[in-house]
Amino acid sequence: MTKPTAAPSAVAFEADDDTPTSPAAGRTFGDVLAERLSRRDLMSGVLASTAIAVVVSPAALLTACSDAGPPSMPNFSFTEVASGSDERHYVAEGYDADVLIRWGDKVLADAPPFDPKAQSADGQARQFGYNNDYIGYLPIDGSSMHGLLVVNHEYSNEELMFSGHSGRGGKPFEKMTPELVAVEMMAHGGSVIEVKREAGGPWQVVEGSRYARRITADTPMRLSGPAAGHERLKTRTDPEGRSVRGMLNNCSGAVTPWGTWLSCEENFNGYFWNKAAAKTDPYATSLQRYGAPGERYSWGRHHARFDIGQDSNEIHRFGWIVEIDPLDPDSTPIKRTALGRFKHEAAANIVNRDGRFVVYMGDDQRFDYVYRFVTKGKVDPQNRAANMNLLDEGTLYVARFDADGAGVWLPLEFGKGPLTEASGFRDQGEVMIDVRLAADLLGATKMDRPEDVEANPKTGKVYVMLTNNKDRPEVAVDAANPRAKNLDGHIIEMTPDAGDHTAPTFRWEILVRCGDPAKAEVGATFNPATSTSGWFSNPDNCLIDGDGRLWVATDGNSAGRTGRTDGLWAVETEGKARATSRLFFRCPVGAELCGPCLTPDGETMFVAVQHPGQSTDAGLSTYDDPSTRWPDFRFELPPRPAVVAITKAGGGKIGA
Ligand code: FEO
Ligand code: CA
Ligand code: CA
Ligand code: CA
Repeated sequence: MTKPTAAPSAVAFEADDDTPTSPAAGRTFGDVLAERLSRRDLMSGVLASTAIAVVVSPAALLTACSDAGPPSMPNFSFTEVASGSDERHYVAEGYDADVLIRWGDKVLADAPPFDPKAQSADGQARQFGYNNDYIGYLPIDGSSMHGLLVVNHEYSNEELMFSGHSGRGGKPFEKMTPELVAVEMMAHGGSVIEVKREAGGPWQVVEGSRYARRITADTPMRLSGPAAGHERLKTRTDPEGRSVRGMLNNCSGAVTPWGTWLSCEENFNGYFWNKAAAKTDPYATSLQRYGAPGERYSWGRHHARFDIGQDSNEIHRFGWIVEIDPLDPDSTPIKRTALGRFKHEAAANIVNRDGRFVVYMGDDQRFDYVYRFVTKGKVDPQNRAANMNLLDEGTLYVARFDADGAGVWLPLEFGKGPLTEASGFRDQGEVMIDVRLAADLLGATKMDRPEDVEANPKTGKVYVMLTNNKDRPEVAVDAANPRAKNLDGHIIEMTPDAGDHTAPTFRWEILVRCGDPAKAEVGATFNPATSTSGWFSNPDNCLIDGDGRLWVATDGNSAGRTGRTDGLWAVETEGKARATSRLFFRCPVGAELCGPCLTPDGETMFVAVQHPGQSTDAGLSTYDDPSTRWPDFRFELPPRPAVVAITKAGGGKIGA
């Protein structure tokens, strides 16, 4: 095991989502679905020809956001992991954490074995992609032992994937051949795998599954909704502006009650190239607002569509939420433009009590916004097909958090308020393409990097993960973003008025300011019952379990700054224990934790360990000299992002 070496300037692997461009400057739905599927009153349905039940119970819809008195949820009960940082992962005592699938493992039956010294695009297109992020579980026949996993592959780390590469801090692209770029493109996107477990045994990937699928940066997709066919989405290869190849930087996501997968394009700007051309582009203002071109990959050198000088509209076709039907491996993924174009972190959602579908979303950049989408139509629990285009019509809103604890959802509708031709918007499609510019005009509140935003079906409350904002100056501090130079992040709890997720207003308060409570200058507000291992910084994704409890996954803790790697923390939200946190799972060095996801019975938690061995403030880490070789720990293998299945020894609910 090589240790991190002393750091040249190259160690500053600042995430692309960290760069502000704004002018002034828990629970996944898979689990909600799972809970519904486990209800006694479930009206089960048979879909496709294999009986995957994804029909929503009408009773479940009525209780999805209930007014049913104060919540009574059990407190977490487990012995927490000691925080720290080394090359391994750790899970709470009495639990097993087994690697299920790693980068390079077989997804399609004809995939070649993983050979990191002889990678090919053709092989990678059949193998599990890089940097697993969102995980959703779709039960087969309602089972918690057999289902589909849908997994996002967010981005690639060439310095860890390929021998001899220095990483982005040096001369990042000097050795990136067209062949290696093609591997990178195939390592992006997503995977669908079928997984199964025999009683008491380990989870395994079902080989030769009829559902197995790889989606890549090249997979044909369709655009739908108000921006489909827009002038700004037309390119030389797609004069109709309705079809696009691939999805990029798919971070977190969600599963819908009708069993589709929402996969969220986040830092799409980084794949585009040619800053000189961007300056004279007719949409230079839009490019600047989205931080484009980011030039974080060399794809534009080898592919005209990623060069803004050669194909200036291609970039407008990324930054969307993609809806995918995992039950049909031949289905065409659809980019739903009604949900707006920004750096989409996630798409956690809830069925409102009137049956309309509500998606909560964060735009992960410093000083960007929290959004909500409300469908025009209602979820039809009896008819899956009737829901398949539900996301094409509805209203997108952006949040304003007022100092008195009130909040307002501001609609992003063409022709209303400042969103007119006088402000440069020709139609609703253009409002969706340039949602950030539209939201700027409406006076939305500039947040400290909104990540996951999840509604708790038990309480109706909504949790907003705000990961950090080192650039917030003292003069720009506000009630909802109360710390200047916020390195640690915070969590906001929103309560929709009258328990209605479509209401125009809400109340909000801060659940916890993160960071080390022992350092007064940090200003952390964890419950004093929290141990020295139990606090965290940089909340990113979250999960609300079947009991309505909040789990928080982090991205940004590091040995140098917080004395701990990232991981998964269990956070109490109600009663005297509110804001008490404890560490459940700890990542190997360099990794962030993504995708926490529970089976319907709450007895298996899948987590995604993303970018293990990525460079940190402790030093540069590369394929040839990595800070960890997790999870294989074999000298000939680099570290590999992987999905881990966590179960309790002897069975039982996770965290109970
Ligand atoms: Fe891809 Fe905002 O994390
Ligand atoms: Ca992430
Ligand atoms: Ca994330
Ligand atoms: Ca992140």
